[in-house]
Amino acid sequence: IQKTYTMIKPDGVRNGHIGEIVNRFERAGLAIERMELGMVTEEQAKANYAEHEGKPFYDGLISYITSGPVVKMVVSGEGAVAKCRSLMGATNPAEAAPGTIRGDFGLIMDENVIHGSDSPESAEREIGIFFA
Ligand code: GTP
Ligand code: MG
Repeated sequence: IQKTYTMIKPDGVRNGHIGEIVNRFERAGLAIERMELGMVTEEQAKANYAEHEGKPFYDGLISYITSGPVVKMVVSGEGAVAKCRSLMGATNPAEAAPGTIRGDFGLIMDENVIHGSDSPESAEREIGIFFA
């Protein structure tokens, strides 16, 4: 069965969306295998977003994701990676469809509520970073 890594970002936690987001995953038939509330270290942030190093938004992204508690989760189910991405919606909340997590709870690109692995390979790598 496929696994994915997903994380409710600091704005999602701060704005009180943990329960609603977990509820959406469960209603979609996904299982929560691991779940932990805590901070992301600088080292974990840089490893998770290594593909974006050098981009103009990189420094802001690292400081934002380490700015407050997040909810780290391993979620499993058939097609979990794609299912999770489709529940999340588009990266930019302004373009995310209503009914998606980012469409309903996000406002701006820099604070877009949730992260989800973009492939099964990324999922394996990211689970290793956050649940070593
Ligand atoms: P994650 O699940 O967080 O990885 O988002 P994603 O896979 O939908 O997007 P991507 O991996 O391309 O970008 C990672 C994060 O960087 C996004 O969630 C955004 O917050 C931020 N980001 C990406 N592109 C831009 C951009 O062009 N401008 C700004 N300001 N932020 C960006
Ligand atoms: Mg990504």
